[in-house]
Amino acid sequence: MTNGINTEFFAERFGMNGLTAIVTGAGSGLGQQAARTLAAAGAHVALLGRRPEPLRETQALIAQDGGIASIFPVDVADRDAVGVVLDEIQQSMPPLWALVNNAGTGGRAALIDVDERMVDRVFDVNTKAALLMATAFARRLIDRQLPGRIINICSLAARTHSPHLGIYGASKAALEHLTGTMAQEWASHGINVNAIHPGYIETDMNRAMFQTPAGRKIVDSLPRRRLGTPDALDGALLMLASQAGAFVTGSTLVVDDGQRFVIG
Ligand SMILES: NC(=O)c1ccc[n+]([C@@H]2O[C@H](COP(=O)([O-])OP(=O)(O)OC[C@H]3O[C@@H](n4cnc5c(N)ncnc54)[C@H](OP(=O)(O)O)[C@@H]3O)[C@@H](O)[C@H]2O)c1
Repeated sequence: MTNGINTEFFAERFGMNGLTAIVTGAGSGLGQQAARTLAAAGAHVALLGRRPEPLRETQALIAQDGGIASIFPVDVADRDAVGVVLDEIQQSMPPLWALVNNAGTGGRAALIDVDERMVDRVFDVNTKAALLMATAFARRLIDRQLPGRIINICSLAARTHSPHLGIYGASKAALEHLTGTMAQEWASHGINVNAIHPGYIETDMNRAMFQTPAGRKIVDSLPRRRLGTPDALDGALLMLASQAGAFVTGSTLVVDDGQRFVIG
């Protein structure tokens, strides 16, 4: 007990000591926060993203917090490169346990203006790369008869039909669908797979948009007239990534401050 808090109870339910958690898109926004949260729970965190510098920043923040992280710069849409990185992680870090498929890309356009390049770019990262990461990760767990956790960061946009978010929403809806199939196919291997649908959370992906008059109008229309901060996902993530979530698989947690009640 520390200050009335039963630390053993929390370590047993939510701790990930001696296990590896992989976070994609870990250099910024929700990915950086997810990496810090999992490191605080004891996981050794593998930080993936294309740009090394933001990954180093996340690594330094984790070190300041007393955690351990290693960086692996990679384009998650490059299947061969991802295979090499997963092998490196397996060789140099503790046993694989959790994958947070967080890397993602935005895209706003009316469907009438959408071109094929945009469709490919958004689906390549948000759907195809997440699928390839999850399958490469699950295959390694299954080969070694290890249980694990996969958390796919989708979006409330998968459920709403906001103008200009059709392609982005479709890419995340496809990932939510795949989450259910992964959960079914890998349940007997002890791998739990769940999705999180964040609502609007201020990050590099949308900061400029929320400063425009149209963006401010969106914020004013929200039930609590506020955007989230990246730590809004901490509770959902910790539960799904730890023993506490052992009986939860194939589910989607909507973490949106009630935004879905007003976003069309
Ligand atoms: N913020 C929100 O309101 C919100 C709401 C719902 C869902 N989401 C989802 O949450 C996730 C995180 O977004 P965020 O808001 O934190 O935005 P962000 O700060 O722009 O983060 C996206 C991250 O993905 C990485 N990334 C993009 N393409 C990649 C690729 N091909 N390979 C490897 N890494 C790649 C980026 O790093 P590099 O550029 O260095 O590769 C970046 O660190 C995304 O999947 C997003 O769709 C966000």
